Amino acid sequence: MALRSASDPGDTPFDGRLLSPVIGLEIRGLRLDGPLTKAVVAGLKAAFLRHHVLVIRGQDLTPEQQIAFAEAMGEPDIYPFVAGIDGYPVITPVIKEPEETQNFGGVWHTDTAYLKCPPAATMLLAREIPPTGGDTLFASQVAAYDALSDGMKALLAPLRGLNTSAKANQIRTNVSEKRKCESLEAEHPVVRTHPETGAKALYVNTGHTVKFDGMTEAESAPLLEFLFAHQVQPDFTCRVRWEQGTLVIWDNRASQHFPLNDYQGYRREMHRITLKGDAPF
Ligand code: OGA
Ligand code: MN
Repeated sequence: MALRSASDPGDTPFDGRLLSPVIGLEIRGLRLDGPLTKAVVAGLKAAFLRHHVLVIRGQDLTPEQQIAFAEAMGEPDIYPFVAGIDGYPVITPVIKEPEETQNFGGVWHTDTAYLKCPPAATMLLAREIPPTGGDTLFASQVAAYDALSDGMKALLAPLRGLNTSAKANQIRTNVSEKRKCESLEAEHPVVRTHPETGAKALYVNTGHTVKFDGMTEAESAPLLEFLFAHQVQPDFTCRVRWEQGTLVIWDNRASQHFPLNDYQGYRREMHRITLKGDAPF
């Protein structure tokens, strides 16, 4: 069955507004603090697959309610590098203090691509946000793949990329002076097939990918640099402006994200839950 294009919010049991023609749906007037009907969960899952990013406003949830919503959408996972908030190991705090200068994940990336089974989805709930700044950009990797020529698609089809957490640490994707971890590595196809929609998406990223399998870093660099620039072009993106209580859930199999670090002197706190994913194929 062909999926309808993202540039159509579709029939949803809630009020949705497109953030851009290719990625992102903003949803208002939905309450996630109680049990959800089957129709709403099915509508949210369909919208998530079509738009890759759901921006659900007005969700001042308790940790229990956030976990319950995560469980309605998938299977919560544990983040390997940062400990959870008190009493809730699946909720990772993503905090930037006013005096800190680096932000968490401050480059274009898809989450933890150095794992054998990276998370299908990541959910962030905004607890405290700066008065302005601290937006997050998202880029559709399905749109980025679709925009390539047939020649480039054919060239990329057999390639696999090596993803390492060491690259992320170097450029401080995972800011955590307190925890020194060994680096993690995984090799994944450069073009992955979405396990639920069948759509093809680019699956290299600036934060983690260092080379192609069977090639040196120097040999890989020119094509990787092309892909890193291509895959985040403005036409493939949307921009999320957070409000306190905004809950965003994104599809790591079909998108990348980039949190802006333009709010020096202000505090930002997000509560993060990842949902388990399959090995990319
Ligand atoms: C993440 C991440 C983005 C943000 O939690 O994986 O990249 O906006 N955060 O804080
Ligand atoms: Mn991230």
